[in-house]
Amino acid sequence: MSLNSELKNLKFLLNSGISEFIQNIPNPIYQTKKDKKEIKNSGKIKNIADIQTSSELKEFIKNSSVCALKKSAIQTVVSDGNSSSKIMLIGEAPGAEEDKYGKPFVGRGGQLLDKMLAAIGLDRNKVYISNVVPWRPPGNRQPTTEEILQCLPFIQKHIEIINPSILILLGGTAAKALLTTNQGITKLRGTWHQYNSLGLSNPIFTRAIFHPAFLLRSPGYKKQTWEDLLEIQKKIKLNEIN
Ligand code: URA
Repeated sequence: MSLNSELKNLKFLLNSGISEFIQNIPNPIYQTKKDKKEIKNSGKIKNIADIQTSSELKEFIKNSSVCALKKSAIQTVVSDGNSSSKIMLIGEAPGAEEDKYGKPFVGRGGQLLDKMLAAIGLDRNKVYISNVVPWRPPGNRQPTTEEILQCLPFIQKHIEIINPSILILLGGTAAKALLTTNQGITKLRGTWHQYNSLGLSNPIFTRAIFHPAFLLRSPGYKKQTWEDLLEIQKKIKLNEIN
């Protein structure tokens, strides 16, 4: 941001009665296209608010040291699939296979996910897949609340960039984190929710379903998941989403 536009921004905020910022940097509402270009050309993007594309976001996450999980992980695992898709799936965090190959859902859970998608006429070229946390927690443990909160701005921004028509949350961790609730997956599945954030113009139809890894351990829950998948398929057809 140029000094001039920064001053304009500050004056406006002061005249509006704002004397304190809760972030280090005030919101750059007067930032011009030229300012944005200068930030981009100056190398690394410093502020997540300046990110416009999923490749910029990937680079930003790779360079981030906000979460200690990055230190023990081999790779930063951000996404797979079609970034133009209107169907976005979000899991918990990469496991060992994902950490090795740098792609979400490539292990046994991923193979089941592919079958679940195929059952309703979808595949990885028709959807976009990411995780709440982009780094593998050691020993495949669940990410802690602190780790989830540290990584949450990444996935929130990612949803804003992809702007899907349908969001499918895989498992309790993704469902709780993105629907901001303490309720478990058993309560959250089976119905439509709406996901919203400040950067979205409309809320997104959201369905939480059992995590494929959970279904591998507890196949008795596949029947309910099949019902959820059929509801998702209905919504896709009804809204002509492709
Ligand atoms: N489990 C997840 O939640 N995400 C992955 O990418 C792999 C397994």
